[in-house]
Amino acid sequence: MRKILHIIATPRGDVSRTLKISGSFLESLKNKYPECAIDTLDLFKDTIPPLTLKTVSGKYVLLAGKDLSGDLKEAWLDIERAIARFLSADAYLISTPMWNFSIPYVLKHYIDVIIQPKYLFRYTDKDVEGLAKNKKMVIITSRGGDYSASSPFHANDYQEPYLRAIFGLVGIADIVFINAQPMDALGQGAAEEKIKQAQDLAAITVEKF
Ligand SMILES: Cc1cc2nc3c(=O)[nH]c(=O)nc-3n(C[C@H](O)[C@H](O)[C@H](O)COP(=O)(O)O)c2cc1C
Repeated sequence: MRKILHIIATPRGDVSRTLKISGSFLESLKNKYPECAIDTLDLFKDTIPPLTLKTVSGKYVLLAGKDLSGDLKEAWLDIERAIARFLSADAYLISTPMWNFSIPYVLKHYIDVIIQPKYLFRYTDKDVEGLAKNKKMVIITSRGGDYSASSPFHANDYQEPYLRAIFGLVGIADIVFINAQPMDALGQGAAEEKIKQAQDLAAITVEKF
């Protein structure tokens, strides 16, 4: 593996539970693949291009199967740069807390920017074809409550199904989730135990990566 893109969607830096688990994952990864470059994209610190009338209009031109020109092509350059950075990685690590049953708005913004026709997917006669095939993804999440399969709140987990669906659309079928939960509902002791379990799982995930 040559390059992993680490996409960070929490603003909490050193106190982030999600990043504690990602830190263990990356440490194991560096041991296994010392030559692997880690490209860090911090969505709360780095600039993600806004979607404007011009860029959204550009998307509809592409959806109609046409090429961009003039103003729309110019406005599209920032989108193309973001997509090129995404596609330059062989694998992805997304570090995201659950926010309001789903993902933080910065991650949704990033997804809205990069998931573009002609670049990450295309329509075929019958179907949609993902264009980011043969790439691996690990998504590390932490949640205040417990949304695991045995929990009464499982149906409120709009985070994992959404991320599986949107990255599945672009052809990333190999997605491993490591969900640390509950982080807030049962207090500090329970949270620390769950973080430790998730860190162990992260190391095992790297072994198979
Ligand atoms: C804006 C916001 C919304 C949140 N929404 C949820 C939620 O819907 N469900 C939940 O279980 N926890 C929710 N939480 C709690 C976080 O998911 C939890 O504390 C997580 O461990 C934070 O991760 P971090 O330490 O990496 O930032 C929310 C936290 C914030 C700041």
